[in-house]
Amino acid sequence: MLNQKDQLKWPNNHFSTTSIFGGTPSYLQEVEPGVLVKFECNNPGGSHKVRAARYIIQDALQSGSIVQGQTTVIEKTGGNFGFGLIAACSEFGVPVELAVGLNFSPTKRRCLELFGATLIGVEMLKAGSTPREVVEWHQRNAENLGKQYFYTDQFSNPGNVKAHEYGTGAEIVSQLQGWPTVESIILVAGAGTGASLTGIARSLLSAHYDVEVILVEPEGCDSQRGVFIEHRFEGIAVGVSPPLLDWSLVTERVNVDFTTMIAAQNAFAGAHGYFIGNTSAACFAVARKIAGCATNSRKILSLIYDHGLWYFRQ
Ligand SMILES: Cc1ncc(COP(=O)(O)O)c(C=O)c1O
Repeated sequence: MLNQKDQLKWPNNHFSTTSIFGGTPSYLQEVEPGVLVKFECNNPGGSHKVRAARYIIQDALQSGSIVQGQTTVIEKTGGNFGFGLIAACSEFGVPVELAVGLNFSPTKRRCLELFGATLIGVEMLKAGSTPREVVEWHQRNAENLGKQYFYTDQFSNPGNVKAHEYGTGAEIVSQLQGWPTVESIILVAGAGTGASLTGIARSLLSAHYDVEVILVEPEGCDSQRGVFIEHRFEGIAVGVSPPLLDWSLVTERVNVDFTTMIAAQNAFAGAHGYFIGNTSAACFAVARKIAGCATNSRKILSLIYDHGLWYFRQ
């Protein structure tokens, strides 16, 4: 729930009164003594990324960069931001075109279409173009295609951070009223764009919590040094240093290996009935490991970014 101060910072609410979109099913719960998690997996679009999508879309509607009935939203993503974007745009009947790398699973590609997106540039991708090149080609040829594009550009759009500062983070601050003795938070989070970590940490700091941040990364990756290897923690350590991450907020970096992540995923499913995504499980592994340092005034906070079935392989 946004408080009055934060509502002022959010672009005008364009949501229809019949929409469930404005409400939040994203609970904050103490799942183990000392470990609070926020269930972003319950959001429309299935993850925290809908926050960024709806902030950016509402902001663009307000500024006139998106005109309903004229503009098409374009982005290069096959991940959670894509699903969030479709959810956000469907509210206003704004069409979404996505350039999705062919390495994304056929299930995910098909689901994006079922949710209402048009997948563009398939032939270009087959011929070796990158999703970025597909987006750039469409932008260059917009007139010939009879389109007016708005590129959401999640990796460099400051709205992505604001969405988490004034949305997710403000909501956490409000939900923390359920733990009135807490003064200090250890935030355990991953970074793809870096926006959610940065926005949430800033929001907690503005609310005068003492904040430490542990950045969780897959084994073998070091985003700060630009070291990346192939891994299964889709959404974090994505091959570029997270452009929206404020490194001054990060106290420590912890690498998690696949086996540790799976153990945490199984533990969470067994205890709470949620099969959480890989990045969430990696963060949960770290959160429960340090749970011993939690007290009445100090809690560990982490995020359930999304569900795990997308990533399940037998
Ligand atoms: C499953 C998952 N976890 C974590 C992240 C990281 O979020 P952010 O881009 O806000 O850093 C993402 C981003 O797409 C994601 O999809």
